[in-house]
Amino acid sequence: TKQSIISQLAQLRVLPILVTDDVGQAIRCVTTLAEHGLPAVEITLRTPNAMNVLREVVKACPTVTVGAGTILTPAQLDAVKETGAAFGISPGITPVLAKAAAESGLPYFPGVGGASDLMLALEHGFDVVKLFPSDIVGGIKMAKALGGPFPDVRFCLTGGVTVESMPQLLQQSNVLCVGGSWMCPAGLIAANDWAAIGALAAQAAAAAK
Ligand code: 3PG
Repeated sequence: TKQSIISQLAQLRVLPILVTDDVGQAIRCVTTLAEHGLPAVEITLRTPNAMNVLREVVKACPTVTVGAGTILTPAQLDAVKETGAAFGISPGITPVLAKAAAESGLPYFPGVGGASDLMLALEHGFDVVKLFPSDIVGGIKMAKALGGPFPDVRFCLTGGVTVESMPQLLQQSNVLCVGGSWMCPAGLIAANDWAAIGALAAQAAAAAK
């Protein structure tokens, strides 16, 4: 359920973001993240084979909460749901996509960059949102400022987050979690360096405590 996913994110406090087009490498990467304390992941739809990657990771890693990121259209949302993914995330929000997401029943987190986006999200019932790109739009300063008019909203800060910056970001009371791709760098995936990825995951999990 959406509530159980939010609870898990509140507990983990860091959501790794994976960009890869290779099923085998995706499964190895997600397994490694889970083994090192991060059993939830966002797989982006930024590569041609991403929907297939998502489907296979969902099948191969049943104990991991596998979500889809970079959902831009209602058609992608439908395809994501069909893969069995646990949740969906977008970098932004549109009226068309928000309506489709609210009707789909898929646990969904739209992206916002400011107050107007957030008002649109709330019109469709979404009060847990991704703040993106967090480092550009103001990070915790923005989260804190939006907390005035929107005290019940919680944010996942994503974009430019690092293992160094995350402990401070997580101290802001309306920050649910942070997300980032730094635990799964393309170079380490290409090199099949799962030990190094495991170390980055363990370091991020520790920084979240
Ligand atoms: C995203 O999809 O949210 C971003 O790629 C994450 O940003 P990062 O790569 O700066 O962590």
